[in-house]
Amino acid sequence: MNDMRFTERTVATDEVKIAAKGVQVYYGDTHAIKDVTIDIADKTVTAFIGPSGCGKSTFLRCINRMNDTIPSARVEGDIRIDGEDIYDKRVDPVQLRAKVGMVFQKPNPFPKSIYDNVSYGPKIHGLARNKAELDEIVETSLRRAALWDEVKDRLGAPGTGLSGGQQQRLCIARAVATSPEVLLMDEPCSALDPIATDQVENLIHELRERYSVVIVTHSMSQASRVSQRTAYFHLGEMVEYGDTGDIFTNPKDERTENYITGRIG
Ligand SMILES: Nc1ncnc2c1ncn2[C@@H]1O[C@H](COP(=O)(O)OP(=O)(O)OP(=O)(O)O)[C@@H](O)[C@H]1O
Ligand SMILES: [Mg+2]
Repeated sequence: MNDMRFTERTVATDEVKIAAKGVQVYYGDTHAIKDVTIDIADKTVTAFIGPSGCGKSTFLRCINRMNDTIPSARVEGDIRIDGEDIYDKRVDPVQLRAKVGMVFQKPNPFPKSIYDNVSYGPKIHGLARNKAELDEIVETSLRRAALWDEVKDRLGAPGTGLSGGQQQRLCIARAVATSPEVLLMDEPCSALDPIATDQVENLIHELRERYSVVIVTHSMSQASRVSQRTAYFHLGEMVEYGDTGDIFTNPKDERTENYITGRIG
């Protein structure tokens, strides 16, 4: 593998996890995503950055068909994960979302116990044959989310009773419990203090070993810390995509440069 494997818009075919081509999203008459083509690599953290309203969340939601739940939203184009068209009629969005987990800006644990929050997905997807296996998945997921030690003695307590940072790590544990291959994170640290942010960022480093992670962030320092690839969005277009270091030190597009130097955004 040499350093030339990444080109401007693509990654080497054997490393592509998510391939999006000519994606358009409309909310009624609003054209929110304009002809976005991007290949997202496996076992890599990819950051989406750009000014508020530029379409980062909208595009992220295309990747696990969360836009299906918004009545006015219409998605066109082609998105493939491991070569499979995720908008094919035969694809069950619920199954897809087990494979493509999502963590939101605001921690949103179910009003249930810590245990139930994590075991819910594996249960509905039949990933455990018995209670012992389910216990095992819950423990592994909580460990992977760096939360196990803090909650192992109170798995029956409500998830909503945890601190904000713990709730977000619980949501990450819930997302990884179904053994996803892709993890989408929409500003996962914006409601967290610096210590919890640091914990989640460390976690993202570890998650990268197993998953393709896509993170939307408003923090450019966070994008530089956690991601290897960065895509800059502007008014619904993806105007620049490349290695994170290059985007931040040597942006090619004036719009990217203006954003990262603080002139817009
Ligand atoms: N549910 C919706 N219905 C109608 N329009 C929407 C909806 N969600 C987003 N939009 C519009 O689509 C465009 C892109 O919004 P989106 O939320 O994807 O931007 P964003 O980059 O995530 O912004 P932010 O950084 O503020 O989260 C905006 O013009 C927004 O107003
Ligand atoms: Mg957003």
